[in-house]
Amino acid sequence: MYKMKLHTKSFRLALAFSLGLFWCSSSLLAQDQKDNKQTTQQTPDGQQAPTPAPAPAPAGLELSADQAVLDAGKALFEGNCKQCHAVDKEVVGPALAKVYDRRNLPWLINFIKYPQKTIESGDEYAKALYVKYKQFMPNHDFLSDAQIVSIISYVKNGKHGDGTITVGPENPVKTKQGVSSGLLTAVIVGLSIMLAIVLGALFLMAATLTKYLRQAKGLSTEDMEVLEPEWRLGDMLRSRSFIGIVAFLFLGLVTKSGLESTLAIGVQQGYAPTQPIPFSHKLHAGQYEIACQYCHTGVEKGKSANIPSANICMNCHNAIKTTSPNMQKIYDAVLKDEPIQWVRIHNLPDLAYFNHAQHVKVGGLACENCHGDIKEMEVVQQVSLLTMGWCIDCHRKTDVNKQGNGYYDKLVKLHADKSKKPLKVEDIGGLECGKCHY
Ligand code: HEC
Ligand code: HEC
Ligand code: HEC
Ligand code: HEC
Ligand code: HEC
Ligand code: HEC
Repeated sequence: MYKMKLHTKSFRLALAFSLGLFWCSSSLLAQDQKDNKQTTQQTPDGQQAPTPAPAPAPAGLELSADQAVLDAGKALFEGNCKQCHAVDKEVVGPALAKVYDRRNLPWLINFIKYPQKTIESGDEYAKALYVKYKQFMPNHDFLSDAQIVSIISYVKNGKHGDGTITVGPENPVKTKQGVSSGLLTAVIVGLSIMLAIVLGALFLMAATLTKYLRQAKGLSTEDMEVLEPEWRLGDMLRSRSFIGIVAFLFLGLVTKSGLESTLAIGVQQGYAPTQPIPFSHKLHAGQYEIACQYCHTGVEKGKSANIPSANICMNCHNAIKTTSPNMQKIYDAVLKDEPIQWVRIHNLPDLAYFNHAQHVKVGGLACENCHGDIKEMEVVQQVSLLTMGWCIDCHRKTDVNKQGNGYYDKLVKLHADKSKKPLKVEDIGGLECGKCHY
């Protein structure tokens, strides 16, 4: 009966092996989900706090050509700076090429951490920059000195591609490194099914063989041991603690995936629907430099930015491109007095209140802070998350715009008496529920 014994042994071995494989594949799945999360958090609008990647500290405060430093610098640049800067051309901010020659490192570190403070401190160079760009760059005080040095090192010594920023279909939000999660999940599901079949077959085999052995007479004690082992799989599988553990694991998995999909509901980052007329911001706002306010007349006046009516298009298109089929749609809209059915892209739920004038006029924020580089978009795309966390995050980080605003003078003084930190939006009530919720 030596053969029989071998069967039981290999059966146990196979069981252990299968369970091991199953455990491995589920932890792989968990790892994959984690990776996905990290890529979705990487928003291109820079208002989200990107987890600062640990940069290998360069020796002292010197620019480095070490590949590890350049890689870290590249990642940080793409996560935090790319939406406003390119190396060799102007985007929202200046081209960064040769910036290491224009300014010394300590100045750069200080400026990148606290641009607004540097400008307000009266630094001539920084003031001139602000006069030219009329916009504050956000604070980057979450970056360490070494991380900033790695970014500048990357600007100086790294490879920069063609220096164009990619807003649009190639948005980083959508890209994922490594194996696609769909494929991985399919492989894992396939593996699990195969394992289940193998397990089932082994059980059947064991059961038949045991039955057969039981019927045989005159078994030696050794063989009897095989038949009646002290540890029995059947008992274990039926035991309460085993069922409890399995049920717990299963429930845990279901809750986890449920939670993840719930949290993602309503988040439409990257949404870029096709519009009834292929209106291009790249052409109108970019190439022809038509001011945003010319069409979005509400941004400085009230809550809503407004989508322009066909009449505004007619200011130009009664003379420009009159024979284009797209223009016919505009003429039809004007003649029939029916609005063009633009598909809305940005949409907060009704429970939240957002006011453009507060942010653009009072806060002095540029559209790019929240909408990305619209001037480069053929098709408008939602660049920011538009979640509560996104709003709050910016309110925690952004200094109140005090310039030319007498209303804040008293508040600023009061705040300065209490605290050395600059007055942030959170300090004027930007985190109060009632401010954003009706
Ligand atoms: C939201 C847009 C924005 C982001 C994000 C941003 N910057 Fe800027 N940056 C600007 C603007 C605008 C200026 C011009 C100065 C001003 O008006 O405040 C500027 C100026 C600079 C300057 C001075 C340039 C010169 O010619 O002297 C440096 C250096 C710089 N930024 C580095 C960075 C780095 C590094 C990052 C990422 C960690 C970054 N910036 C992220 C908008 C941005
Ligand atoms: C010539 C008129 C015109 C100009 C100039 C213009 N826009 Fe628009 N904008 C439109 C029209 C029409 C739409 C609706 C169609 C679309 O989404 O492309 C729109 C849509 C948008 C949307 C998406 C609205 C939504 O549905 O959520 C944003 C954001 C936006 N514009 C921002 C800007 C910014 C920022 C600028 C300046 C850099 C600008 N626009 C300049 C006409 C204009
Ligand atoms: C301030 C002037 C101006 C306004 C306002 C304006 N456009 Fe234009 N538009 C232009 C110019 C200039 C061109 C480029 C014409 C060319 O390529 O010769 C253009 C081109 C276009 C084109 C591409 C031409 C084609 O053959 O299809 C479309 C579509 C278009 N505009 C739609 C609109 C819509 C919709 C509006 C209103 C929301 C609008 N435009 C408002 C100036 C304007
Ligand atoms: C602080 C962030 C922020 C800034 C700055 C900002 N927007 Fe918006 N924008 C939003 C949000 C959030 C929505 C969605 C509002 C809603 O659904 O009620 C939106 C919606 C829009 C829409 C869709 C129509 C509407 O009014 O809801 C347009 C068009 C628009 N923005 C244009 C602009 C332009 C042009 C500028 C610059 C002059 C600008 N935005 C600046 C956050 C911002
Ligand atoms: C890019 C940064 C930024 C983002 C993103 C942003 N805000 Fe703000 N918010 C500001 C600034 C700056 C002010 C201060 C304006 C001022 O001086 O009154 C402000 C002020 C406000 C206020 C008035 C607060 C007060 O106490 O007076 C409300 C309400 C508000 N924001 C709502 C929102 C909502 C809702 C969102 C998200 C949909 C949002 N904000 C996203 C920068 C931002
Ligand atoms: C700066 C603006 C802002 C402040 C302050 C704010 N919220 Fe929100 N909140 C939002 C926005 C925007 C949404 C909708 C975003 C979404 O659906 O992801 C939201 C959504 C919610 C939701 C619905 C969540 C969901 O998934 O539908 C609840 C509940 C909520 N907020 C509670 C609160 C409470 C409680 C506070 C005070 C502690 C608060 N909020 C403060 C902007 C804000």
